[in-house]
Amino acid sequence: MYDVFSMKNFDFPKDFLWGSSTAGHQIEGINDNSSNWYNEIESKKTNPDMDLSGMACNHYNMVEEDVRMLCDLGHKAYRMTIEWPRIQPSEGEFSEEATEHYLKELRLLKEKGIKVFMTLVHFTLPKWFDDMGGLNKMENFKYFEKYLRYILPKISEYVDFWNTFNEFNLYADVQNKLNHAKFHAYTYHIIKEYSDKPVSYAHSLKLMHPYQYNDKADKLMADYLDYTNNEFMLHAIRTGELVYPYTDGEFVPELKNSVDFWSINTYTRYIVDARKKNLEGERYNHKYLEMIPMKFYLDEIDPESVIHLLTRLKDKPVYISENGLSCIDDRFRIVFITMYLSALSEAIKCGVDVRGYLYWSLMDNYEWGSFTPRFGLVDVDFNTFKRTPKPSAWFYKEIIENNGFSQDILRKYLNELPTLGK
Ligand code: BGC
Repeated sequence: MYDVFSMKNFDFPKDFLWGSSTAGHQIEGINDNSSNWYNEIESKKTNPDMDLSGMACNHYNMVEEDVRMLCDLGHKAYRMTIEWPRIQPSEGEFSEEATEHYLKELRLLKEKGIKVFMTLVHFTLPKWFDDMGGLNKMENFKYFEKYLRYILPKISEYVDFWNTFNEFNLYADVQNKLNHAKFHAYTYHIIKEYSDKPVSYAHSLKLMHPYQYNDKADKLMADYLDYTNNEFMLHAIRTGELVYPYTDGEFVPELKNSVDFWSINTYTRYIVDARKKNLEGERYNHKYLEMIPMKFYLDEIDPESVIHLLTRLKDKPVYISENGLSCIDDRFRIVFITMYLSALSEAIKCGVDVRGYLYWSLMDNYEWGSFTPRFGLVDVDFNTFKRTPKPSAWFYKEIIENNGFSQDILRKYLNELPTLGK
């Protein structure tokens, strides 16, 4: 475990934007016009242990309380989604009730002076749209455009930063991924018709680390995975060229410069082992941390990755739109936040223009199939929906107030380093 008690204090640039991140489907509850809702029910038939999203955190009915909580915890920015499936439950219908609901939420956030990062699509689509092939078909963009032209003029005055789509750069289906790149670009230009605020997509940035660092095959495959998950998209944004292995390259003029900032979701690295069929290497055992009672992809704290990754992004401002840890023992979260913020401050020293940090997530939520992972700064009782901020939430609040980390703050919230599970 990192000895955070030996760390030096560090600060962030003036006006650094602090806050947290969520996604509609994971917190709102009863998103029953989304295809996800039906897919969950289908999947549960073969995987009875999985959880359905159900009421999630009941956020849809607790917006006022949750906005109050954001303020109490000192957050200055909040990343959220407007759920397209709620706004357009069927092709010919736009719901006034849902539109008014989100406008109310946005007005509240505005009143409280909280900057809004709006994600338009965070993994959820209306069922009717998905049934006709969703974003697998380029010709379906016209339906999304119709939705955009309905919602954008209504919400744009409340939105400070835009995310078009979440993390499509990791999708396994190549056609879908490349379509998304184009959908993002077209959406970027439509948003610009309604808003002068900065636009991006949320890029999941993962370090691809060769299992045996100097092994030629591991290195080659790590490079390959880096290209097909990260670089193809960074290159497309910088040049307009969509170049992907085993497909014909394409110049998409709309893609060039279609982000005004890099919106980066970053968690941990990926260990690449060329000797494994799926290339997925074992985590190094000496870094393995069992923080929740299930096998999970975030069983390592690896802040150095952030420095390596972000130094590739010196050409535009960077906002960390997601970064967080799932753990039962909240002390791990305090260590995690300390380490990742220290890495961010190193990246800034290296010349990366990092302007904000949104912790994932404000509250414990539905982790796409399970309620076991606990990412929240705030504990949620999934029976009563009672919210209780964890010590890490108060720790983070003081970091925000201080615009930096100090040993004095740390020692108020952590007496000793957390120990491993079994
Ligand atoms: C996703 C979130 C998810 C988080 C933690 C991100 O990749 O955008 O929806 O909950 O990771 O796994």
